[in-house]
Formats: sequence, structure tokens, C-alpha cells
Amino acid sequence: MNEIGRRDALGLFFGAGAALALSACSSDASSDETSAPTTTGGSPAELEAEARDLTLNLWAEPTTAEITPGVTTDVYSFRAEVINGDPASVTPSGSYLGPTLHVRTGQRVRITFENRLPEESIVHWHGLVVAQDQDGQPSDAVAPGATYEYDFVIDNPPGTYWYHPHPHGRTGEQVYKGLAGLLIIHGEEPLLPSGDNDIAVVLQDRTIGSDGQLRYVNTMHDQMAGFVGGTLVTNGVTDLTLDVRREPYRIRLLNGANSRTQYLTWSTGQPLTAIATDGTLLPGATDVEGLVLTPAQRTDLWVDFSTFESGQQLELLSSDTFIESGSMMGNGMGNQFGSDLDLDPSVAATFVVIDSESSPGSLPDSLGTAPSFGPTDAVNGDSPKQMILSTRRAAHWINDRQWEGREVSDIETVGANTVELWEFVNQSPMAHPIHLHGKSFLVTSRTWDDDSAAGSWAIIESGIIDTGLRDTVLVWPGQRIQIAVPFGDHRGYFPYHCHILEHEDSGMMRNFRVI
Ligand code: C2O
Ligand code: CU
Ligand code: CU
Repeated sequence: MNEIGRRDALGLFFGAGAALALSACSSDASSDETSAPTTTGGSPAELEAEARDLTLNLWAEPTTAEITPGVTTDVYSFRAEVINGDPASVTPSGSYLGPTLHVRTGQRVRITFENRLPEESIVHWHGLVVAQDQDGQPSDAVAPGATYEYDFVIDNPPGTYWYHPHPHGRTGEQVYKGLAGLLIIHGEEPLLPSGDNDIAVVLQDRTIGSDGQLRYVNTMHDQMAGFVGGTLVTNGVTDLTLDVRREPYRIRLLNGANSRTQYLTWSTGQPLTAIATDGTLLPGATDVEGLVLTPAQRTDLWVDFSTFESGQQLELLSSDTFIESGSMMGNGMGNQFGSDLDLDPSVAATFVVIDSESSPGSLPDSLGTAPSFGPTDAVNGDSPKQMILSTRRAAHWINDRQWEGREVSDIETVGANTVELWEFVNQSPMAHPIHLHGKSFLVTSRTWDDDSAAGSWAIIESGIIDTGLRDTVLVWPGQRIQIAVPFGDHRGYFPYHCHILEHEDSGMMRNFRVI
């Protein structure tokens, strides 16, 4: 049966990734959903027809998880309960990942965050357009035992978002220990696979020691380059296997890794069909041979399994794209070594096509609407602001500055409801995925100031999708990326930073101020 034609026009069904469907790749992985762990949130629930306000308790706590079958690992996890509102708004992940939060455009959401960790923390809603005091910023971190009250209205269109902690200097380790979850916004969308056919895949990596415990940054190089775990961990487990029927699916990908920018391919060599980036539907579906996904980026894929045979497998393969085009300790460019990129794919997830009737579907002709702004709307069209990314004195910098809380420079001050052109110029030897809080921007150009790393870029370039809106953009060494940013009407201070969490923690983060 084909779920596609049956989607409620108002988008009231969600599977949405809902189902961080997971069944570890053990021999008992089977098509029988009841054999999967009961806590997967696997079967889709149905959101109530009438949107009503939502009140949640969300907490972060130390606990244990089985990341690798049979091994108990100490982790941190988000957990949540619905106090008031639709019970289907929170679906457990079945792993160390936080529950998936299902909200709707226009909905009022109140969340009490309780910090049950032995260290300070705060929750940031990555990609959501909210006021400064709702954004979960480093300055709002609360002490162990304390709470933080959120109360905001969902102002973003339907799409794939996530939440993670943001205490200054501790974000990387807290995310690594397990603090992250999906936030799916529902609402009016074109007809896309829904219910069981809407699944989420959270891509991360971990290094697990022989004692079963997580290993994190040990060396100066880990700190400088960003920490890359030795094993891919997807939806919170190694060797993730997902059963699918011979039907079209929406697969919401989130790169939740600390530092690994991934180049993703299908094992069959077929193209990846992207329908949304960073929470926003693309104007039209876009086929790529491989897909580049930096930490914090999301891409929703459309995959039609109807042409597959029962029993056939499709593997999602991931390669690390790390390059160092010069010395980390030196002045950046010019010092050529290690700038070649050898893609070395490993399996991030395996989709197993179960015995089912083939039911093909097709994508709607048009998906999202074209952005309502462009570079010609910019108030500084003749003089884009320049943010220089650099590496020196064993640290990463933005315009020779690091995190200074609410100290902003002139160029970091912007007018509410204006569009500005910003340029990120990467003079450091490695790539940096740059994120602006609460802003969906357009990438308007990518040029080279220094093309020493152009060879490695050429290997992944076709996997960059810049045609829609983004909230995180990859800046390769030597590149100058221009973005057009609509600064909406929330005044105040908002962070922008590298989403390599070790870079963010060590200060590659600044605020901009909207006045
Ligand atoms: Cu995922 Cu400051 O953000
Ligand atoms: Cu953010
Ligand atoms: Cu960085």
C-alpha cells in the first residue's frame, strides 16, 4: 500500500523520523516490528487533529546506553515528558539520543529544562527562529539541579531541526556523551511520504574503549582538527539496520557528529535525491551522486524502494572529508601537505527491503517556494562584511577574535529586518562549517582567495547543495563564501560559530547583535 497518496493534506500524520527506527544489526533484525526494541518509537503515532499548546518537561541526565550490542556505556541523555498537550509530541529514540520532539508551525511550546547533569548546561533549538532568551545561549547555561523555562511559538516552516546543549566550552563533550535530539516541525507541506515511510537517520561517530566507555579528545591535534570518532554510530547504535517496504520513503538525515563532515553515497551508486536542506524544502528535488553533510546540517532525501527486490539491501555509505591544507600550528595556507582527499566509505546504515508489494510513487513537481529575499535586497550590496577564519597560535579565530560573550564589533551589529551580505573567508588550513543562530540564509557565491585546496574540493563539490536555504555552510580552505542573511525582527545577541564543536568550545564563536 502506498502511503504517499494517503497523506493528510494538513500534514497531520507524522512518522517523521519520528521513528528513529532502529534495530541493531543482530541476527534477529527482522521485518517483524515487534521484535525491534520496544522503545524505538518505531510505529508512527498520529498527531491530534487540532493543534493545541504544548507543555513539556525536558531534562538531561547521566545514564547508560547500549551503543554496541552487549556493551554498556555511560552516556548523557535528554529525556522528556508531555505535561500538557498531544501525547504524540514526544517519541523516545530507543538509544542515548533524546526523544524526537514533534511540534507544529504556529504552535506555542513551553518547555521546562531541568539540568540533572553534574555540570552546567542549556538547550539550544538549532535552526529555530526564537527570541534571544529562548535560544539556549551559552550565557543562559544553568547549574546542576537548576531549571530554565522556555516559552515560544514555532515560527519556522515544517522541516527537520534538532536540539543540543550549548554551554560555553562544554558543548562538544556533552553532545559527544549523547545530548542531542531531533525536532520535527509539522504543518502544511506538499504530499511526501509520511507515517511509517518518514524516517530519520542521525549520523554520528564515537570511539569506544575496551572498557566499553567513550573516549574523547586527548591530544592537541584532536582539539585543533576536531574530534573524529573511530566508529560510525547511527541513531545511537553501531551497525544500524532499518527495514523498509517496497515504497517511497522520506529519510531525514542529520549530521550530529562533533566534527566529521561526511560525504554520503548509496552502495548501488544511484543518486541521492535531496528534497530539503537545513529544514527548508528545496524548490525542486535535486539529484547528487554523493552528498556533503557537515556537522549540524540536515538533508531530507526521497528514496523509492519500489524497484528493489524483497531482501535487497541498500547501504548508506559515509566517508570523512577531513583535509589539512597546511600546518595547524603555522600561518595557514601555503604550507602544502595532506591536502589530498581519499574518500574511504564505511557503512553508516543498512536498509533492508522486506517482502512487500511494490508500490511506486513520485515526487510532487514543486516542493518549496523560492526564497522571498535575495542578494539584491541587501543593505550592503556594495560592501559585503568580511569574516576571516584563521588558525594561529594553536587556535581558530574569526576576524582575529574569539568568543567574548556580549562584546560585538561594528560589523557584527546588524539592523532588524534587513538583509546583509556576509563573506566568510577561510585562511585556515582546514574546513569550517559556519552556523548562524536562527537564520536561514542563501549562499550567493563561492570563490577562491587561494585555490591550493581546489583539488580536494573538486572531489566533493558536486555533493554541495546550495540552491535552498541553509543555516550551516561549509567553507573549504582558501574559499570565500558569500551569504545573504535576512536578520528578522528578534533583537538582541545571537551566536554564530563553527559547528565543529571542538572549535566552538575553544572560542571559534562570536555573537552578532540585531538592533
Ligand atoms: Cu547547533 Cu550554536 O548551534
Ligand atoms: Cu543554532
Ligand atoms: Cu572550525
